[in-house]
Amino acid sequence: MEKISVMISEEQVAKRVAELGDVITRDYQGKVIHMICVMKGGVYFMTQLSSRIGKDVPVTMDFMSVSSYGDDLTSSGIVRIIKDLDESIEGKDVLVVEDIIDSGRTLSYLLRILQERHPASLKLCTLLDKPSRRVKDVDVDYVGFEIEDQFVVGCGLDYKQKYRNLPYVGIVEL
Ligand code: IMP
Ligand code: MG
Repeated sequence: MEKISVMISEEQVAKRVAELGDVITRDYQGKVIHMICVMKGGVYFMTQLSSRIGKDVPVTMDFMSVSSYGDDLTSSGIVRIIKDLDESIEGKDVLVVEDIIDSGRTLSYLLRILQERHPASLKLCTLLDKPSRRVKDVDVDYVGFEIEDQFVVGCGLDYKQKYRNLPYVGIVEL
């Protein structure tokens, strides 16, 4: 078992998610939010965030799974779609929900292909952002927390597929 220290507590996460929910509820008045979850990491945050959207703003959901070829060998930013969306996003107000933006390769590619499908609007919400790691520019509309360049787990984020379930953001002590 790895040792994990708490970086952002469960209470801090919950408070920030509620704040984001309030802001997003205000921004989408009169619209339907079509949330797109990037699996698997985004699942935890999307369920939390969606539960904090006001009742007056309906939310629909779809899921997408992508795999980044992106290690240091490939700076192409080509991302393979493992599971595509079930429904068309044409004319919808799409909010992509991610766990973390790191190099930005995955999301810059994903946003480009989603844009080509003609949504009415396309925005991005991420729980965590590591701006110092950015290789590709990504317009992030809503950010939970900006963090330093540290490897974190919990709230959907994994280390070797583990710890996604932790209700706080932790640092793995390797
Ligand atoms: P990128 O922005 O294309 O570099 O890719 C971001 C993806 O890398 C995220 O969706 C995560 O799956 C993974 N990732 C980046 N940083 C971390 C981290 O600190 N912990 C766990 N996964 C991470
Ligand atoms: Mg991810």
